[in-house]
This record gives sequence, structure tokens and C-alpha cells, in this order.
Amino acid sequence: MAGGGTTLVECKLMGRNAIGVDINRDAVMLAMDRLNFSSTVLEPLPETDVRLYQCDARNLDLVPDKSVDLIATHPPYANIIKYTTRDNGSANGDLS
Ligand SMILES: C[S@@+](CC[C@H](N)C(=O)[O-])C[C@H]1O[C@@H](n2cnc3c(N)ncnc32)[C@H](O)[C@@H]1O
Repeated sequence: MAGGGTTLVECKLMGRNAIGVDINRDAVMLAMDRLNFSSTVLEPLPETDVRLYQCDARNLDLVPDKSVDLIATHPPYANIIKYTTRDNGSANGDLS
């Protein structure tokens, strides 16, 4: 539920390793673009391993057991915003 990647960007700035997942392909592409930055203010940026996957957050088999310290999630706002549309090619499983 990484969405546009806000949490991952903050992880990159703060030197924290992170794994983000989102089921929506467009969100993943947007977040990847936002993560592709360097900073002139914080140069050099801390070394981090920030990963992003398009997958269903209800199945995190790709994350090895006992490999994370904290899970931060930002689920859809009930049914107020529909993230998946007929046009954006997302897989079934979008909880919005
Ligand atoms: C409230 S938004 C997250 C916003 C994010 N914090 C940001 O900075 O943009 C909820 C996200 O959950 C994603 N989502 C919905 N169902 C999901 C599922 N089953 N697995 C993974 N992501 C899902 C949506 O695609 C959407 O990007």
C-alpha cells in the first residue's frame, strides 16, 4: 500500500532500508519515479536498500521471515477513493 511512495522517499532520506508493495501498477511506476532522486541538500544521501514491488500486500511471501523490524501501512480510505480503474491495468485484489 505504498501508493505514490511517500514513506519510501522518507526512508531513503533518513537512511532506512525499506520494502514497499502496492497492487496498482500506476502507483508503483509513480513511486519508482519519485525514488529516482539524489539530493543536493543532504548530499551524500545515506546508503539504503529501498525496494518496491507490485503485489498484493496480503501475501508477502517475497519478504523473508524475520527480516523486517516495522510494518507501516496506509490502506485505502474505505471506499472513498477507487485506486483501480478499468484503465490502469491493476490486478484484482485492490481493497479500495
Ligand atoms: C491511501 S493509498 C496509499 C497512499 C500512500 N501512503 C502515498 O503516499 O501515496 C492506498 C494504496 O493501497 C493500495 N492497495 C489497495 N489494495 C491493495 C492490496 N491488496 N495490496 C497492496 N496495495 C493495495 C492502492 O493501490 C493505493 O495505492
